[in-house]
Amino acid sequence: MCGIIGYVGNAPAIPVLLAGLKRLEYRGYDSAGLALPQGGRLLAVKAVGKVARLAEKVRRLGPSWDAAPPRVGIAHTRWATHGAPTEPNAHPHFAEGEGIALVHNGIIENYRAIRARLEAKGHRFVSETDTEALSRLIGECHRGDLRAAVIAALRQVEGAYGIAVLSRDEPGAIVVARKGSPLVIGVGEGECLVASDPAAIIAHTRRVIYLDDGDVARVTAEQVDIVDLDEARIDRAVGELGFAPEAVEKGGYEHFMLKEIHEQPEALRNALRGRLDPAHGTAVLAGMGTSPRDLAEIRRIALLGCGTSLHAGQVGEHAFEDLAGVPAAAQQAAEFRYRNPLVDPSDLVIAISQSGETADTLAAVREAKDKGALVLGLVNGVGSTIARETGRGVYLHAGPEISVASTKAFTCQVAVLLLMALRLGRGRRLSRERGQALAAELGRLPELVGRVLAREAEIAAVARRFVGQDHAFYLGRGPMHAVALEGALKLKEISYVHAEGYHAAELKHGPIALLTAGTPVVVLANRSAIRDKVLGNAEECRARGACIIAVATEGDEAPGADEVLWIPGCDPLVATIPAAVALQLLAYHVARLRECPIDQPRNLAKSVTVE
Ligand code: AGP
Repeated sequence: MCGIIGYVGNAPAIPVLLAGLKRLEYRGYDSAGLALPQGGRLLAVKAVGKVARLAEKVRRLGPSWDAAPPRVGIAHTRWATHGAPTEPNAHPHFAEGEGIALVHNGIIENYRAIRARLEAKGHRFVSETDTEALSRLIGECHRGDLRAAVIAALRQVEGAYGIAVLSRDEPGAIVVARKGSPLVIGVGEGECLVASDPAAIIAHTRRVIYLDDGDVARVTAEQVDIVDLDEARIDRAVGELGFAPEAVEKGGYEHFMLKEIHEQPEALRNALRGRLDPAHGTAVLAGMGTSPRDLAEIRRIALLGCGTSLHAGQVGEHAFEDLAGVPAAAQQAAEFRYRNPLVDPSDLVIAISQSGETADTLAAVREAKDKGALVLGLVNGVGSTIARETGRGVYLHAGPEISVASTKAFTCQVAVLLLMALRLGRGRRLSRERGQALAAELGRLPELVGRVLAREAEIAAVARRFVGQDHAFYLGRGPMHAVALEGALKLKEISYVHAEGYHAAELKHGPIALLTAGTPVVVLANRSAIRDKVLGNAEECRARGACIIAVATEGDEAPGADEVLWIPGCDPLVATIPAAVALQLLAYHVARLRECPIDQPRNLAKSVTVE
């Protein structure tokens, strides 16, 4: 869950590496480091904390290489898995004194055995990390050819890795390899870059090579040479990045999260573009690559994901059952992969992931494929591992999402799941009229969300109800239960308020004991057949002194509410999206009031590429 970047070319490497690390900081930000050739050896600079700390240290050391700025280097920003965020544990890690440097994203699972073997040979480890075992192993295998040494070492390791390696003896080359963790190579004019994410490369080139598991590449300024672990040559296509450099800038907003919240009308337009067929009351999703017969044979649907993506799947569950009459269940991907799931070839498995790199969801995809299910990806990361492994599915087209807290990806995931359910439904029991009505509602989404965004000031005012509160509850029923879970997750992630989402009927079976005077309770009480039930549950909380914040439909009453977040009237399934946007803004403004580091909350990372 770390970010790695490397540069080899004609430009001074340091500014490129530091700018790239800044772009990758959402992947982990507890310590950082870089390695560069200097005076016939490799010099490392490491710092605990954000990239800015590292940049300051490098700036102070600047004079030592101003005369001959290095034109190659590797760098890393860390999300600690083994060993606390300290300088010795920060990357890069070395072998052969300072002859070989390595930065790594992933986990070496058999590192203890390797470490013991090398310690028995006299190695003195300087860190607690799994990565140092790999760097020293590469040193042990090194006989002058860095890539051959990397391959020999990788044949002995178990686990996941995206690595970049430098050798003092090959100053014009970087060796990279991947298994389980993402790695792309940017091919520029007289320069090449390697990175965990294309966002760190876009400022230099849009031409990228996505490496696959088992690929090992030797990258110089002029050439990219890829082989597999048997040293057989591999050709990989050079693709073109589909987004512009501005897309990874804040664009005048104080936080990426606020920018991405306000990008949702446009993101939803992109997610829906060319996919709605109002005349037939259905949806067109070419990427699914499924014939009407394939769709008709689907007997059951499993929606897999983690965190926010799982919550989108939980809304999808209601949509597939309601619109298509197909039994559907959202499942936590890590649980799915280890529970030996009951999967049948007539099952449709939808893997939901913003990044397309989440390790547990990727593993669940492989499990479902092994069991013969029809597996589709619902992914935002173009060219990501889940997209390539599922081979078919639907891209969100939401654009890069930088803030750790997912916002526009969630609403676009739900919108596309509603399109999928509409498509499946029209192939079964859903009438053209109901289909046309839903298609029309989906077409209104950018406007519906725009109306919630226009109420930001009102929502910011309601956020004051959370000042001084360390606990909060979110209640919903039906598809809004998932929105309650998502609203609570957003608040937890960025404001550190302990928030729990519950099915509104569940509170009185225990959690209601936690309510005290003033405890914020957000209730999803928009217009629906079960609204009165939700308002009844809100009354139970109000009777215990809670502060009721109702999400309600414009034009309706919100009896008993202390505060109301108004959303426009629309189909209850579609309403999950404007409701989610209201809760995103609420969480954002609570976090602002608490002066939290909104885009990079403590202990988190944007995509979880380790188990
Ligand atoms: C959401 O705000 C979090 N960043 C996290 O829960 C995230 O949704 C989860 O890690 C899944 O990520 P993915 O969608 O990239 O697979």
